[in-house]
Amino acid sequence: MRINVKICRYLPTKALGIQDDAPLALLSYQKLTCHRGYVVQTINMLNRRSVMSGLATLPLTAQIARAEPSPQRRRLALKSGLALPVIGMGTWLTFNIPLDDPELAARKTVLEAFFRAGGGMIDSSPMYGKSEKVIGHLIKGLGAQEKLFSTTKIWTPLASNGPNQLAQSHELWHEPTLDLVKVHNLLRWQEHLKTLRSAKDAGTVRYIGLTTSHGRRHETLESLMRSEVVDAVQLTYNILDREAEKRLLPLAEEKGLAVIINRPFRTGQLFERVQGKDLPDWAVSELGCQSWAEYLLKFIISHPAVHCVIPATRRADHMIENMRAGTGTLPSADMREKMARYFESL
Ligand SMILES: NC(=O)c1ccc[n+]([C@@H]2O[C@H](COP(=O)([O-])OP(=O)(O)OC[C@H]3O[C@@H](n4cnc5c(N)ncnc54)[C@H](OP(=O)(O)O)[C@@H]3O)[C@@H](O)[C@H]2O)c1
Repeated sequence: MRINVKICRYLPTKALGIQDDAPLALLSYQKLTCHRGYVVQTINMLNRRSVMSGLATLPLTAQIARAEPSPQRRRLALKSGLALPVIGMGTWLTFNIPLDDPELAARKTVLEAFFRAGGGMIDSSPMYGKSEKVIGHLIKGLGAQEKLFSTTKIWTPLASNGPNQLAQSHELWHEPTLDLVKVHNLLRWQEHLKTLRSAKDAGTVRYIGLTTSHGRRHETLESLMRSEVVDAVQLTYNILDREAEKRLLPLAEEKGLAVIINRPFRTGQLFERVQGKDLPDWAVSELGCQSWAEYLLKFIISHPAVHCVIPATRRADHMIENMRAGTGTLPSADMREKMARYFESL
């Protein structure tokens, strides 16, 4: 049997009375058989203080097997109770290179840094050229399939091509089961959702969803979130593009949908605004930020509706910065407004 290890359950810190910004210290692992022949990995994240008192409340299937510092925050996501590391990775542009490109080695170091820091979700799409192929190749080479939460899309104007494209994604990722597949930019969503639902019923896709970006098609997405049964939505949200706060994010919370955020840096544009500028003292002292990337990502992941953000990078040092945003203190609602006002003033 192929062992496809996935995070399947998360014990909400609230249930143990842990403060949201408490230092996270322990991961517990136990592999257990779940449905459809999978071996599913259970991960519970607790802080030191709560471990002893919290043990009694752990699900029967979970045990503390080993203790190690956790660099990664996780949030409850998806209706099933599945959890995701809060910082994921995008692959548009950054992983669209040929397999014989000299840059491939550098992309490998990006992935190594990602998984070393506890990363899980990688987002791609047939729209991103060779990205799916490169990701599949590198992950297989690294033997990191067990850590991966694979996220791709169907993106074709031809309804009849949806199943072929999905089959090709399975092949490129080397994943007989893809974790989450979405309809890219809502293109031919009626037909592609049918394809995805069949795949979900057949057990070859675990979760399905819809994406949009750049603030486009919000009205359509909102109406589909109300009318269609999906597990996740992906949309653009960042410190300057906050339209989603008005309707989509609250609706996602109400519907219990997983929310994945794309374009967290506006494809890098947000860094131009802060070039040569130091972080404000309070971001360092109160939030522990060491980089603007952390500042921008902490803003996003501290929105209560957000489960995962997928910044893209070609550089391992940037990946380390990005992953660091998923650790330590998150801003309060007041602090988030302060961060946004400050950034807008630059
Ligand atoms: N409709 C859709 O479904 C949709 C649409 C758009 C995007 N997406 C997804 O969302 C992902 C992210 O969006 P995006 O690709 O537009 O880009 P992004 O994550 O907003 O920005 C990427 C840019 O930021 C730079 N960067 C990353 N980390 C950095 C750091 N720590 N310090 C300084 N610069 C840093 C990168 O440059 P370096 O390479 O130099 O680090 C790159 O140029 C995409 O890759 C894709 O997977 C989905």
